[in-house]
Amino acid sequence: MAILDGKSYSIKLRGELKVRADKYFNDFGRKIGLAVVIIGEDPASKIYVNNKIKATEEVGMKSFSLRLPETISQEEAELQVKNLAENPEVDGIIVQLPLPKKFDTASILKHIPAEKDVDGLCTENLGKLVAGEKTLVSCTPYGIIKLLEEYGVEFSGKNAVVIGRSNMVGKPIASLLLQKNCTVTTCHSRTQDIKKFSTDADILVVAIGKDRFVTGDMVKEGAVVVDVGINRVDGKLYGDVDFESASKKASLITPVPGGVGPMTVTMLMYNTVLAAFRSKNADDFQ
Ligand SMILES: NC(=O)c1ccc[n+]([C@@H]2O[C@H](COP(=O)([O-])OP(=O)(O)OC[C@H]3O[C@@H](n4cnc5c(N)ncnc54)[C@H](OP(=O)(O)O)[C@@H]3O)[C@@H](O)[C@H]2O)c1
Repeated sequence: MAILDGKSYSIKLRGELKVRADKYFNDFGRKIGLAVVIIGEDPASKIYVNNKIKATEEVGMKSFSLRLPETISQEEAELQVKNLAENPEVDGIIVQLPLPKKFDTASILKHIPAEKDVDGLCTENLGKLVAGEKTLVSCTPYGIIKLLEEYGVEFSGKNAVVIGRSNMVGKPIASLLLQKNCTVTTCHSRTQDIKKFSTDADILVVAIGKDRFVTGDMVKEGAVVVDVGINRVDGKLYGDVDFESASKKASLITPVPGGVGPMTVTMLMYNTVLAAFRSKNADDFQ
């Protein structure tokens, strides 16, 4: 068994992104800009946002952080996001989800134009992904593919099973694996006998948010296992996969933390660099 080390690969990728961000600055006279919007005081969201701001500045981009109180109205929140969208120095915008319950998330997100939607969440970008067109791909699924490519994982003709069908992770990773010529099965909360499918998976991606749900007996010998889950139990982080038992069967496996998480943040930088160059019709490196 070997580890799919998202942390190390992220450091390498961020180095490459810094070179591109510096080139943009030299060519166009301003730093690439990423705006991160957070509403409310959720402690986990605050940690994620701070990580994103830190990473943005480390790769030589400018961060625009918009911290709004939960007491703000829906209309005011929408107006603030609209203003960011119109700012020519902002190349990418991400709204940290989930928002506090009182907000209509979709109505806020719809103010982010597709070309600045660096989280790849709008209907236009999701639709283009399914159609196989050039788009901005949701950061977590895109990061998973990049990580698997880095480790030389073969896709064509392999059985890929995705557990979870969210718009942010499950559905886009299934589309990407299909584009890579895998035979893809998606399981979800209504799937009968998940083990029947998971034990057939050469590539198993788990994104459900259930602490150590997938155990070693559900994993095929030699499988590549990608654990997206982040579950906090008694102050410790666990994935959706029971690493201890699953790693005895897998040929490659992501740890939690240090696997998919760092790749997600890095791909946010990646998508923002991509969006900035595309806005100038220059140097598309996807
Ligand atoms: N590492 C990272 O960077 C990163 C990024 C994003 C998310 N995450 C983590 O990944 C996990 C999933 O995130 P998400 O946004 O995709 O979650 P989500 O929107 O809550 O979706 C969860 C999905 O899992 C399915 N599911 C729930 N319980 C299940 C069960 N017992 N058996 C089979 N399927 C089940 C649900 O099925 P139904 O559709 O049938 O309800 C749903 O499709 C969370 O722990 C989240 O924190 C990590």
